[in-house]
Amino acid sequence: MLVLGIESSCDETAAAIVRDGREVLADIVASQNDVHARYGGVVPELASRAHILHVVPVLDEALRVANVRLSDIDGIAVTNAPGLVGALLVGLQTAKSLAWVTGKPLVDVHHLQGHLSAIYLEPHAPPMPHLALIVSGGHTSLVMVNNHGSVEEIGATRDDAAGEAFDKGAKLLGLGYPGGAVIDRLARRGNSAAIKFSKSMASKHTWDFSFSGLKTALLHHVRDHGVPEDIDGQQMADLCASYQAAIVEVLVRKTRTLARWRRIEHVQICGGVAANGALRAAMTAAGEEDGFEVYIPPSNRCTDNAAMIAVAGYQRLLAGHRAALDLNAHPSSPLPKAATI
Ligand SMILES: Nc1ncnc2c1ncn2[C@@H]1O[C@H](COP(=O)(O)OP(=O)(O)OP(=O)(O)O)[C@@H](O)[C@H]1O
Ligand SMILES: [Mg+2]
Repeated sequence: MLVLGIESSCDETAAAIVRDGREVLADIVASQNDVHARYGGVVPELASRAHILHVVPVLDEALRVANVRLSDIDGIAVTNAPGLVGALLVGLQTAKSLAWVTGKPLVDVHHLQGHLSAIYLEPHAPPMPHLALIVSGGHTSLVMVNNHGSVEEIGATRDDAAGEAFDKGAKLLGLGYPGGAVIDRLARRGNSAAIKFSKSMASKHTWDFSFSGLKTALLHHVRDHGVPEDIDGQQMADLCASYQAAIVEVLVRKTRTLARWRRIEHVQICGGVAANGALRAAMTAAGEEDGFEVYIPPSNRCTDNAAMIAVAGYQRLLAGHRAALDLNAHPSSPLPKAATI
């Protein structure tokens, strides 16, 4: 079954064509980083306009790369929640128009369901049940994926998401937007023990996260010591490494404690922050020490893409889900408990 996936929930316009939920024939992403960089964050109205400009060329490119025609597609999967409403509507309207014109089945995909599904494009994917740490620009959650029809959220952030902590930290340090990848790169040369930041635990007794205190700690550090002048200097590298380490330590500590407590043998990490080198290494090391296996998609499938939407859509189509042409966008919608993963 050939599924066309369309993703436009934030600042990436993406289209992908995936065969049988496993084989990626095309995976095209048009990033809007250049559009938003000067504002230090995503400007919703500009995002919607950029999606309108990019969506048809991205779609054409996906069909060209996959070497298929629209009539060859068996189903159309589209992200309809959560995200920026104007951005979501562009992908949604495109998918609905295609479904109407071609008569092919349409299926709605929750964006986090997409992130959770990216790992199924890899040769080595986690069996059910498994624990998933979703870490992205808007979400930080610990989720039990019980079987293909059921997910259960165990903990979530009470304030900022891990990606927001990276982005806001980078903004404070004048490193531009989006900041996660820049902090990751600069931190590689830094000493993560150089500066002690308070650990951003919500509480030891919940599975929830909190990152707002860490952001304040960085603000206070900058107020007291200033921002290092040389972006490529050792001071900046140490600051990035120390800040990053505080985020990573909390993510890994909560995940491994939960894995131990529930005797979980398989853990996946997904979402944009799962591209972070320090998090990938620390979670893999924790798994080796504690005896759980760690699964992480390659970096380009951690950040937003449409291949993950096509995989989730394929599973939903197999399970018999179909969306009507009055399908709407839902900007803030939690991961459905009966999501098909
Ligand atoms: N190497 C990296 N290290 C740390 N953070 C990273 C890295 N690469 C990307 N990120 C962060 O990942 C986030 C983007 O992830 P993603 O594209 O999944 O977010 P989103 O789709 O906007 O949010 P959500 O998935 O919650 O709706 C940004 O906050 C970005 O800084
Ligand atoms: Mg995302």
